[in-house]
Amino acid sequence: MSTSQKTLLTGRILRFGADPFLSPPTEAIHVDEAILLDGELIVDIGSAATLADHHPETARIDFGNKIITPGFVDCHNHYAQTGIIASWGKRLIDWLNTYTFPEEMRFGDAAYAAEISERYLDLLISNGITSAAAFCTIHPESVDALFSAAETRGMRMTAGKVMMDRNAPDGLRDTAQSGYDQSKALIKSWAGHERLTYAVTPRFAPTSTPEQLEAAGALWSEHPDCAMQTHLSEQHEEIAWVKDLFPDDPDYLSVYERYGLCGPGAIMGHSIHLTDREIAALRDTGASVAHCPTSNAFIGSGMCDVTGLRAAGVPVGLATDVGGGSSFSMFATMRSAYKIGQLRGDALHPAQLWWLATAGSAAAMRHDDKIGRFAPGMEADLIILDPDATPVLAQRTQRAEDISDVLFALMILGDDRAIHQTWVNGKEMKGAI
Ligand code: GUN
Ligand code: ZN
Repeated sequence: MSTSQKTLLTGRILRFGADPFLSPPTEAIHVDEAILLDGELIVDIGSAATLADHHPETARIDFGNKIITPGFVDCHNHYAQTGIIASWGKRLIDWLNTYTFPEEMRFGDAAYAAEISERYLDLLISNGITSAAAFCTIHPESVDALFSAAETRGMRMTAGKVMMDRNAPDGLRDTAQSGYDQSKALIKSWAGHERLTYAVTPRFAPTSTPEQLEAAGALWSEHPDCAMQTHLSEQHEEIAWVKDLFPDDPDYLSVYERYGLCGPGAIMGHSIHLTDREIAALRDTGASVAHCPTSNAFIGSGMCDVTGLRAAGVPVGLATDVGGGSSFSMFATMRSAYKIGQLRGDALHPAQLWWLATAGSAAAMRHDDKIGRFAPGMEADLIILDPDATPVLAQRTQRAEDISDVLFALMILGDDRAIHQTWVNGKEMKGAI
């Protein structure tokens, strides 16, 4: 007999009936009245009267006109860069050397890693991000700190030790062998912990020797349930550097393909300046792209063609890329994605942006059977949004024409004040931080 507690939440429940890139966006979104949770799982969605009738003993929480949506999923960020978010004036390679590497050096200290892990997870929760794929640093301590903090909160987290054996400062390099051994030991420690997923994490082609990329590929093939996360084609200088370092490869992605680092479960951060061959190879191998629009504007990287990638059959999720990304807010991230689309002459629909920030990212992480959508049997990671959270939002959402218009106002005008509650694994979290 189940001992868990059933809870009925009523409000405006947002449910996607279809992928809004594959069907008319306005028809993809549905609004239901109630969602029934049983402990950590979603049991049913539908009319408030019917669900209340069928489950008369159930505790009920009425959220009125607030919106209840799957928690946001951030499919690419760097928890160890929390402290250096908003660092001025550099493009990618200088930004890494000036701000990122000195900060990442500090994560060999387990106490510092634990402190930043808690701060980072607080920031995710207060921004309604219930699940993320995070780069740690080269230090195994950085992974232990994040996974143990995430597990205490019951969060579904994907993370991995950065592998980096060249073109990084002393003290911030492993070797092909130690990177493999330490990653393997971390998989052994953390595999089987229910809501945690290990990601094999070669930082990007320029900071790994061919030997290390080969070791990373071997490790992933030995542990195919792991994710694989890296960076691809973010800036032109970086692409030219990859060409110098790997002259025998026709393009950037082929470096990863050569070493078995492309396939289902591979999350390729950025992927902005791709050739047609690379796009076809992403599609054919089943790898996903993490679109990082605040970062791409902030570091001056370029404008990713999300619609083109989706039309070509490449899965895409949405990501903050903190701390190259300039915000922990998924509203800010959706609004940057919208603005980059506009600059390209392509107005992404609010339903498409919302889908990228939930179901799209969950699919990139191969967790779309568990999170990112509301359906019976899915895990109860959800957020309650207040469309009247600020005066400017309230006056705008009150004249909204339909649910898409409310979502659009939220993503353009909203911040963490609009995240009324964040529920992780069936429990309310935001009030606790
Ligand atoms: N490419 C390699 N490392 C990084 C990183 O930490 N951030 C970003 N934005 N790009 C990278
Ligand atoms: Zn990144």
